[in-house]
Order: sequence, then structure tokens, then C-alpha cells
Amino acid sequence: MKFRFGLLLLLLFSLKASAVINIVPKPNSLIEGQGSFVFKQGMTIVAPLHSGAASLLENKLGHAAGIHLHPVINDAKAAIILSIDTSFVHAPEGYHMIVNAHHIIIKAATETGLYYGVQTLLQLLPPQIESNELVKATWKVPAVTIADAPAFSYRGIMLDVCRHFLPVDHIKKILDILAMYKINRFHWHLTDDQGWRIQIKRYPKLTQIGATRTDADGKTYSGYYTQDQIKEIVRYAAARHIEVIPEIEMPGHAMAALAAYPQYSCTGGPFKVRTTWGVEKNVYCAGNDSTYAFLSHILDEVCTLFPSPYIHIGGDECPKDRWKQCPKCQARMKEEGLKNEDELQSYFVKRMEKIVEKKGKKIIGWDEILEGGIAPSATIMSWRGEQGGIDAANAGHDVIMTPGSSLYLDHYQGSSLCESVKIGGLTTLQQVYAYHPIPKAISPAMAHHVLGLQGNLWSEYLYTPDEFDYQLFPRALAVAETGWTKLANKNVNDFIRRMDDQQIRLDEHHIDYYVPMPEGNLNYMEFTDSLRLPFTTNRPVRVLYSMDGSTPTAHSETYTAPILITKTTTLKLRSILPQGKMSAVRTIHLTKVKPLAAVSMKTPQTGLRMRYTLQGNYRNVAQLQTVKDWKDTVVTNVNDFFKLLPEEQAGGGAIFTGYILIAKDNIYKITCLADQLFIDNKLIINNDGRMKKNAPTDISLPLKAGYHVIKVILVNRTSGGVPSSWIDARPFVQPYEAIDNESLKAISTFYE
Ligand code: ACM
Ligand code: ZN
Repeated sequence: MKFRFGLLLLLLFSLKASAVINIVPKPNSLIEGQGSFVFKQGMTIVAPLHSGAASLLENKLGHAAGIHLHPVINDAKAAIILSIDTSFVHAPEGYHMIVNAHHIIIKAATETGLYYGVQTLLQLLPPQIESNELVKATWKVPAVTIADAPAFSYRGIMLDVCRHFLPVDHIKKILDILAMYKINRFHWHLTDDQGWRIQIKRYPKLTQIGATRTDADGKTYSGYYTQDQIKEIVRYAAARHIEVIPEIEMPGHAMAALAAYPQYSCTGGPFKVRTTWGVEKNVYCAGNDSTYAFLSHILDEVCTLFPSPYIHIGGDECPKDRWKQCPKCQARMKEEGLKNEDELQSYFVKRMEKIVEKKGKKIIGWDEILEGGIAPSATIMSWRGEQGGIDAANAGHDVIMTPGSSLYLDHYQGSSLCESVKIGGLTTLQQVYAYHPIPKAISPAMAHHVLGLQGNLWSEYLYTPDEFDYQLFPRALAVAETGWTKLANKNVNDFIRRMDDQQIRLDEHHIDYYVPMPEGNLNYMEFTDSLRLPFTTNRPVRVLYSMDGSTPTAHSETYTAPILITKTTTLKLRSILPQGKMSAVRTIHLTKVKPLAAVSMKTPQTGLRMRYTLQGNYRNVAQLQTVKDWKDTVVTNVNDFFKLLPEEQAGGGAIFTGYILIAKDNIYKITCLADQLFIDNKLIINNDGRMKKNAPTDISLPLKAGYHVIKVILVNRTSGGVPSSWIDARPFVQPYEAIDNESLKAISTFYE
């Protein structure tokens, strides 16, 4: 009896659970009712004239369901009613919705509120409502009463189209998705050292010269938006209730502009559009009045293109090296009584603030504009943590929170051993979700100055448009919910549960979003007897694997417990989501070996022999082997090579030979970001031709106690925007048990 009763409960529970609500961002009040509303052909709809919200609903139903609604005027009995009602709903973006078996009624104070009401309604329909093709489904919505409004007025995403470019259609695709999740600001980072991406008619060279760079591999990289395309994007975003805020960077991050117009620099150039990432020392001259006129003319055109009340003028990462040497900048400091170059930057920003004010707009700047004194009306974007935002809000300035550790979407979202090269950091979906934009250190009376938050997608390491999508989604959904849903209504586990439904919606838009990978262990492992390999994923997903070298499919073994390895094996793993989408494949090379035996040394001396050349541009190890005029010397470590050339300069390469001393018989984890590492004449790590930044080539290796011969090959090349000199090319060796110990220690090297 008991068992049957339990079964009945379970049945009832699962019936109830069939109408699970998966809305993102989670509405601030939702009460489930009885029954459901079923959409039928020709149902009547009442909506304000030219309502974009009504068009959105009609388009989605038309495309995916083949259901066409019948518009009627002022019929209180219509099946679907969208109405503007300022007496009932007050929040400008808020809406109220009632769904029962007979009606759907959405009320809002504005068309934006109606639009968000319809986005919520679409999320109550099966996820295939986002399909562009007819789908067979029951198009019904569970009965609900929703009263909803956002927690924050600014819910933004920034896209950097300078380091890598996004075509117009791809931006539109992203805007479609952002609108689904009620993101209402698109911060468009349009100018930087590596590219100027907006047509300015008065200064055609900005795009003729500034929009193209020649990368280290000799390929040109270009792209910019014409003013017509800019207008098209602004219109497209506005139809989705997204305001576009342009960023024109100054006084730093200006190399692309200076390549075109070097007269506005301190030295006069000439310059090339920058081809490596990082921070450029050449910036706009702050002592030259014509610089301000040049920027004012640019902003004249920018202001007419973007209806936003804001212009973002950058202000971050402006090295003061050139200003310190520049007679004009130094004279300006004297004239204005400025104590240091930080105050000169503040002078620059305040002068631009006045120029922008005359054009009827307000400035936003990165938190560096606080240094040397903040411009009176500036809004601060706090990116170097929260302190800038805290200081600015407490001083009565508006603030947008975008701290790197939580909201930089260029960071890894899973283990770097399983992902393509990224800038660094680790910011999981849950970490983004955990962020709250009002730090305790902002006094309650000043908390209203926090307008909201923004996820920033910098694109140095996003080599294709698809990689933008991969980094952006699903983490942008966590930004959206954090911006919309009140803190008390947020729940990370429930948010993660709702991802299953939301990801199907992303599939319908052909978004290749991040899927958690099987993490743990190294990609190359040598062992003597056997291994037992545990894997995890950073949120619950099923993992499939094969041990015969084949690509795992939906029919492969499911991972349930650590995998026992007793012989040389190629292990392949991937994750699978409930709807069948699979992650990329992770391959782990497992090799059964005998430990490498030690050699003897008579008179070991600390250091390494280096055979090197500073001449020639080599892309890989084979090309370096063709060098005839090697030089020989002894160095203390591999990085000493870089001291022979100016900072960041590519060219030449070196072959280092010597020994390492291993303390005891053990399995060691070896890391090396040089091009190749040999131990006892065996190729152990091979980064030949690949970008030398992350270390998916780390290996575990059994070694006997004593001296082992090593050889390191270093090709001094720039790859993917990263010069070899940025990396630490030394070999690191540590006991494998210490694998989680992040403080890698470089091992001493010897020669004789
Ligand atoms: C920034 O990330 N430099 C604003
Ligand atoms: Zn200067």
C-alpha cells in the first residue's frame, strides 16, 4: 500500500513537473495556475498599433508553429491582449502577464515592457518556438500570473570587434539572443591599437589604413563598418530594445588611429597598426590642441550615428612613457599646473567630457579615469575589480560594474587543458551568476548609482566569429539574470537546471555555446604499471568515452567511475547534453613505459649551453634547423635568450642543451612552453607550430633519480598575436602528486 501511495505521489509530481518553468531571467513574481492556453490557427490578438512586441509573437508563431494570429481592434474578448497601461504597471521595463485557458493578457507601461512580456511568453512555449522552420509540437503555455520588472536598468554586453572583427550579420545574430534574455545595452568597442572599425567620413585614412593590420604570419586582417552598416545595427538593436553605446578609445589604445594620422601622437610616428595584443606605449599627444580637434570631429560623426545619451571614451591602460618625454605634453602640464602625468590624463578626459557635453552627450570611462581626478559628470565602468566602482558611487557618480574576475567573458570557462587558448583566468557560468553588482562597501544611500552590470568579451584570442559565441554563451544568460532578477530570487542550482531548456533555444539560433568538458588529468600521460583516471565536469552533464581511438558517440560508454588504464591507450572523452548536443572531443594519450634511466655527470656546473641566432624569421622547428651561422654561449636559463633582443621582437631562435637533476624515482609533471623539450633524447613536449600560451601539452613522466639530459628548442616567433618573449619558456618539473599546486618551480639546469 505504502509503495503504491508513493508511486501515486511520484506520478502526481511528474505530472506537475511536466509544466516546468524555465524562464531566464527568472521573473520576480510567478504564480502557477490551473490548466494551459493552447495556441490555435486564426486566434485573435489585440495590440497597440505597430507593436514590435506583437510582431515578435506573430513571427515566432508563424515560423515555428505555422500559426497565424488574427489582429483585431479593441476587442476585450480577444484571445491575446497586449496593452499599454500606465495606471497598472509603473516600471518602465516591467510587465504583467496573465495566462489562463482562454486568454493571454500582457500589460506594460511601455512598448519595451510589452516586448519583454512577449519574450517571457515565448519562453513558456516549447523551446522549438525559436526555430525558423515548422516544427510539430503542442503550442501551449501553462497558466501563470507574472508580475515582473528588472532589478537593474543597465544590463549590458560588450563586444570587442577590434582585435577580431564580427560581420554585421553575426552581430545581429548575437543581438537576437541578447534580446531574448532582456539584455538592454550593447557596448560596442570600435577602436583599439589593433584596428579602427568605424567609418569616419572626415578622416578616411582611419579605415583605409587603421582597419587593416599585417599579422606575424604575413596575412592581412581587416574589417570595418560603414556608417550605413552602423545605422543598420543601431536600428536592429533598437527594435530589440537594446541601446548601442559606442566606445572610441582615448588617450591610449589608439595605435590604429595613429598609424593613419601620426601627427596626433607625441613623436610623430610613423606607426603600424599593432599586431600583438597587450598595451601600446604610443598614445594620443595630450599637449597638442589639434589632437582634441581631431577627436571632436570624430565624435561629431559618432554622436549623429548613435542615439544613446552616452559616448564611451575608454581611458584605460594609457602608459605615460611618451608624455614624460614629450615637450608639448610637458608644456601643457606646466601651463595647467598639473603635478604629474595622471593629472594630465585627467585634464585630457575632462577636456573631452566638455566636448562631448556640447554635443549633448555624457561620457562613460574605464575606472582609470578616476586617477588624477574624475571628470564631474562621468559614469565609471569598474573593471579592475570593484574598487573603482565603489569609490565612484560613494562620490556620487553613476557606475557600471564589470569586474574582471566575475564578468570578463574572455576568460576560460573550464580547464585550460580542455579549451583552446584564451587570455587566462577562469570564470565559470556559476562564478558569473554568483556576482552581485552592489558591493557592501557602497553606502546604501549611494547604491542607486550602480546602474547595473556588463559582461565584457574582449577578442584577442577569439580567432573566428564562432569563438565569440562559444565564450558568450551560456555565460551571457548569467549576466542577464543577475541584472534582471532580484538577489533574493536568484538560485544557482535552479538556474543551472533551466540551462537544459535554454540551450535548445540557442541550438535553434545555431549558436555553438560552451559545453562543460570532462576535466582532470593531463592530455599526455606516461605510466609504468596502471592508472585510475577520475574525471569531473564543472556542472552536471553526462560524459561519454572510448578507449579504442574512436570518436565517442551517443552510444559510447557513459563515465560513472574512474577509468582503469593498464596498457597504452588513446582515451577519448566528450560530454553530451540532454538534447543530444555534444562537446568537443578530449583526447588523452596514455603510454606504458619504463622509467627513463639517469646518466652520470663528472663536473656539473649551473647553467645551460645555448646555441643561437638572432637573425631570420622562423615559424617552426624545421625552419630553425636550417640555420648555418650559430653562435654558442652559456646562460643561466632559457629566458636569457630574450634579453639579447629588444622587447617583443621576433626573430632567430635557440637550442639549449644540458641536464636536470631528479631527486628521487617518481612520476613527474613536466610543463614547457618552448617549441620542443627533449629528455634523454626523447621528444617529451611538442609545441611546434602551435600558439605558445596555455599548456595542453603538459605531460606526466616516470623518471629515475639522478641526472637526465635535456634539450630545449626555442623558435622566437609571434603566433596568434603572442610574441614568444611574453611566455616563460623554461621547463618546469614537479612531482605529479603536486599537480594541483599552482606555484610551478622551474628546475635548476646544469652543463659540463
Ligand atoms: C580593459 O579591460 N582594459 C578595460
Ligand atoms: Zn605629447
